[in-house]
Amino acid sequence: MWTGTPLFPESASTIATRVDALYFFLLALAVFFSTLIAGLIVYFAVRFHRRSPDQLGAQIHGGLMLELTWTVVPFLITMVIFVWGASVFFAMARPPDETLNIYVVGKQWMWKFQHLDGQREINELHVPLGRPVKLIMTSEDVIHDVFVPAFRVKADVLPGRYTTIWFNPTKAGRYHLFCAEYCGTRHSGMTGEVVVMDPTEYQAWLSGGGPGGSLAENGSKLFASLACNTCHRPDAQGRGPVLEGLFGKTVTLQSGETITVDEAYVRESILNPSAKVTAGFQPIMPTFQGLVTEEQLLELIEYVKSLQAVPQVQTR
Ligand code: CUA
Repeated sequence: MWTGTPLFPESASTIATRVDALYFFLLALAVFFSTLIAGLIVYFAVRFHRRSPDQLGAQIHGGLMLELTWTVVPFLITMVIFVWGASVFFAMARPPDETLNIYVVGKQWMWKFQHLDGQREINELHVPLGRPVKLIMTSEDVIHDVFVPAFRVKADVLPGRYTTIWFNPTKAGRYHLFCAEYCGTRHSGMTGEVVVMDPTEYQAWLSGGGPGGSLAENGSKLFASLACNTCHRPDAQGRGPVLEGLFGKTVTLQSGETITVDEAYVRESILNPSAKVTAGFQPIMPTFQGLVTEEQLLELIEYVKSLQAVPQVQTR
C-alpha cells in the first residue's frame, strides 16, 4: 500500500498484514472522532453563541439516553480494540511447533547470529522464505532490542535471559534490522539486515558451510573438554543427572518444586548449578560462570537438546 513512500515499512511477514490492519483501524478511528469532535466544536460555537449580552444559558440536568450512549459506544469500541489487539498479540507470542531456530547474541554494538548447522553471521541474518523462524536471543552485556520493521516484530534482548520472537517471511529481499533500545554510544549503529532467500538458495547458502561443525557438535566437544561427561553419564551411574532425553521434560527439584527443562534452566544450571538442584542429587557441581561465553552456552544447550533418550534400566 504505502511501499513507495518512506513513511511506512514494507510488509514482508505473515503477521505484518494483521498488525497493519489493526493499526489502520486505530488510525481511522482517531481520524473519525477527531473530525467529529472538531466539527461539533465549530458547529456548537456558531449555533449556540450568545446573541445578547445579558442572555443566560438554559440549565440541563442530565439526559439518560445521551449518557448511556456516550458510555456504551466507547466501551464497545475499546472492547473491539482489546479483543483484536489480544488476538494479534497471541499470534505473535506463540510460535508454531515447527520452527527454524536461530540463536542471537547482542553485544555492544553488534548482532551475532548462530545457525544450528554451525554458520555464524554478524549483523546479517539469512533466513528461508515461507518458513517460520524463531529467534532465541540473549545479550552479553546490556539490554538491546531486536526490531525488524518489515516483519512487524520487536523484542528486548536481555542479559542473563532468553527471549524469543518468531516470524514467517512472505517476500524475498533484504530488510533492515535495528537495535531499538538505547545501549550506549554506538546504539544507532547497531543495525543489520535480514536476508530472506528462496528455500533452494537458502539451502545452497547453508551448505556454503560454517567453519567446523554444527552447534550441537561444538557443544559436544565443549562438553567433553570441560569434563562435564565425567558426571553427566548416559548410564545413570554418574554423580549428575542423565541429560539424554532430558530437554523439554519436567523434573522435580530438591525443594519439591517442578521445573520444565528449557534453555533458561540449562543455562542457569551451568552458571549457577546449586540454584535448582534435581531431587536425588548433591549440589556438588562447580559453576562455569566466566568459563563459558554466551555463545558457548548456546552450543551446550543445543548439545543437551540433541541428546536423545537412550533405552536403559532405570536405577531409581
Ligand atoms: Cu543495542 Cu541499542
